[in-house]
Amino acid sequence: MSEKKISSNVVWHHATIDRRRREALNGHKSVILWFTGLSGSGKSTLAHAVEERLYDMKCRTFVLDGDNIRHGLCGDLGFSDADREENIRRIGEVAKLFLEAGVITLTAFISPFRADRERVRNLVLHGDFLEIYCKCPLEICEQRDVKGLYKKARAGEIKAFTGIDSPYEEPLTPELTVETGRESLEESTEKVIGLLRERGIIPDA
Ligand code: ADX
Repeated sequence: MSEKKISSNVVWHHATIDRRRREALNGHKSVILWFTGLSGSGKSTLAHAVEERLYDMKCRTFVLDGDNIRHGLCGDLGFSDADREENIRRIGEVAKLFLEAGVITLTAFISPFRADRERVRNLVLHGDFLEIYCKCPLEICEQRDVKGLYKKARAGEIKAFTGIDSPYEEPLTPELTVETGRESLEESTEKVIGLLRERGIIPDA
């Protein structure tokens, strides 16, 4: 699905207002912060907390969130391996557009497959994709069960649920790991902000 291209006779139009000019206007660089982890590991919570901090610093940001995007752009997709691959492919393309728009883009998708995450990484230049692993043991995610979905998955009411009967492939060399099962939200948020400073995305405090 991902390699299929059926559009022909289309010619790329180069914008005169490009990413560098937008970044100069914004006073910070753009980047994709790719949060990955089990359902209930705190990806969205962390992404939004980081966004709050960045907003206070007057940065341009946007969060692309799994549950929300699946209502619209990816509303036609389920949770088979192929649908998850297509989900991440679309999000990758959208995130790339946001990157060109000069925005610090935070994505919160389980994105369980390494190959799918690598494909997004390879869509953009080195350093434009920062993978953040929200590491939280399954037992804790299941205990929290904020949406009650683990209970349903255990009862067999939801099939192919990540961590139960569908795999999650941990990142091997993420740019950052946050132990969301152990750390406070503030600690994890500070780590992400620290990463952005270290990489020169946002200016030093
Ligand atoms: S992904 O695997 O394609 O990256 P995505 O992040 O978009 O998943 O959506 C995950 C969210 O969908 C979960 O947080 C959960 O609320 C809901 N969900 C519903 N069914 C499933 C399932 N079978 N596996 C995982 N999450 C599911």
